[in-house]
This record gives sequence, structure tokens and C-alpha cells, in this order.
Amino acid sequence: MSNEAVIINHSASGACAKVLPFGATVSSFVNAKGKEILFVSKLAKLDGSKATRGGIPLVFPQFGQPNKDMPQHGFLRNNYWKPGTPVDGEKECICDFTLDLKDVVNGRGEGVWKDESTVDCSITLTVKVSADALTTILTVENSGENAFDYQTLFHTYYQIEDGKALDTNICNVTGLAGYKRFDQLTSIETVQGDEPVAVEAELDCIFSPPENQSTLEVEVSTGASSKVLVHATAAADGEIVPVSVVVWNPFVEKSKKMGDFGDEEYHDMICVEPLVNASDKLQTGKKVSFLQKITCL
Ligand code: BG6
Repeated sequence: MSNEAVIINHSASGACAKVLPFGATVSSFVNAKGKEILFVSKLAKLDGSKATRGGIPLVFPQFGQPNKDMPQHGFLRNNYWKPGTPVDGEKECICDFTLDLKDVVNGRGEGVWKDESTVDCSITLTVKVSADALTTILTVENSGENAFDYQTLFHTYYQIEDGKALDTNICNVTGLAGYKRFDQLTSIETVQGDEPVAVEAELDCIFSPPENQSTLEVEVSTGASSKVLVHATAAADGEIVPVSVVVWNPFVEKSKKMGDFGDEEYHDMICVEPLVNASDKLQTGKKVSFLQKITCL
């Protein structure tokens, strides 16, 4: 199978995204001003042998590895998807990618996801490119006979200018005051204050919204004068589902342990990953739709 990137070029503005068929991983978004927004490691495997270390890997049906019979972060990011044909319009250029469960050869694990007799669904990623924004919409429709639990996440890697990810004035995330902050490294839970979230050590935290807040809106500062607004929403069976977010930087030691990430590259990136941790199963015939929009400010 070829992993040659699909080019989604919005000709009216010159903005352009690239999507690798392996994982339907958006690996580049260059806005109309010519600025690359996404980080991809120099050591990332781009030949379909491993999930892409960078861009926007897709996570489903599990985040992390609660089910040890399935690989970490599920199977969307490590299988070949079928690309559609980009449709270039005045406002935006759009392309769909689909994954048929029957084509999933990596990572279905040993549990209920192992074959279509226990669970089945149709999976689509829609990518939209406009002058200053990149939108990804993941839709999963339960076409099988059983309801299933799921978590889903856009594992978005942002490029930080001039290797300044550790400069807390340059690289930080704002908009999370009042969110519950669960530190995955220490299991300590606190409430996030007004201060920006920044990289001062290894960072691996899940931020869950206060009640009555379902849409995620955060700003990620990625350089001395560059910022993006991240907006994420989810709906299952028409009902709004709250969106949490993971903020991750592997820092010194963890970087050394990852074979597909340079030892010093933690200076160049931060991951800000909208997460749906569904409390209700997705019932037969119902669909969940999860949207992330990244707007350059
Ligand atoms: C983050 C997790 O989302 O992904 C981290 O919170 C994890 O715990 C990171 O280390 C990278 O995961 P992976 O499987 O791509 O190495």
C-alpha cells in the first residue's frame, strides 16, 4: 500500500494540508501565510510501519491502554484508510477518508473489537482546509448489533517556533481555568488555576471541563507572535458530549525512550489533544461526531 500523502490544497488562499493514508494522519497544515502549524518528528516512520509521530494521529476506541488486549490509543492510527478526492471550493477545500473495519489488520486486539460479529461501525474523517483554519471531523456510526464504549481523541502535535517549547512565555495553553487537572504521571488531581499550562518538566495531564461546559476553546501560543485557537465539540446521537483535553510534552527522559522521536525534539512541540471520554455507550444505528477546528490567530 502506498502511504503517499493526499494533498488538500485550497487554491483560493494557498493554504494546504497533507494527509497520510496510514492512519488518515494529517501530517502538515500550512496556512495562507505560509506557516507550518503541525510538528512531525524527524524520526517519524512514514512508511506505514508505525503510527506517525506527529501531525494529528487519531485515537479510537480507547485512549491509552485501559484494554490491554488492544494497542495503546486503538487502531485508527495504524491502519490504511481509503482517501476520497479533494473538492476545492471558494471557501475551503474538503476531503473525506474512510476506514472499513474489515480492512483493519493492525490492532483490533482480542476483545469485542476483534471481529464484526461483536461490533461493527463505519468510520469517516473529513478534513477541511481554509486560509487560516484546519478542521477535522471524525464520525463513527454504529452499524453493528451491539452498543459499545469508546473514547476518542485528536492527538494534535503543534510546532513550536525556534525550539522554545520550554519558554513558558512563548509556549503555553490558556483557557483551562476551572478544569479538573489529572496528572497521569503522579495520579494527583487538582483544579487548574488562571495560570497558563506550560512545559516545565514532563507534562502529561488530562483536563476535564467543569459542569455545563461541553465545548473546548483553548489558545495555544506557539511562538513569540503566533497563536492558534483550538475549538472542539462532540455530539453523540444528537446529544452534546463534553470535550476534555490532554496536554503532553515528553521532556528529557521520555524523549530518549521513544525510537521515533529525537532526543531534543521536546523543545519543538507541544501536544494539545481534545478528548471525548464517553460515559454512555454508542447504541446501534447511532453516530458520534467529533470536531476539532484549529484557527491561526
Ligand atoms: C499522550 C498520552 O496522549 O500520548 C501519553 O497522554 C503518551 O501518556 C503519549 O505517552 C504518546 O503516546 P504514543 O502511544 O503515541 O507513544
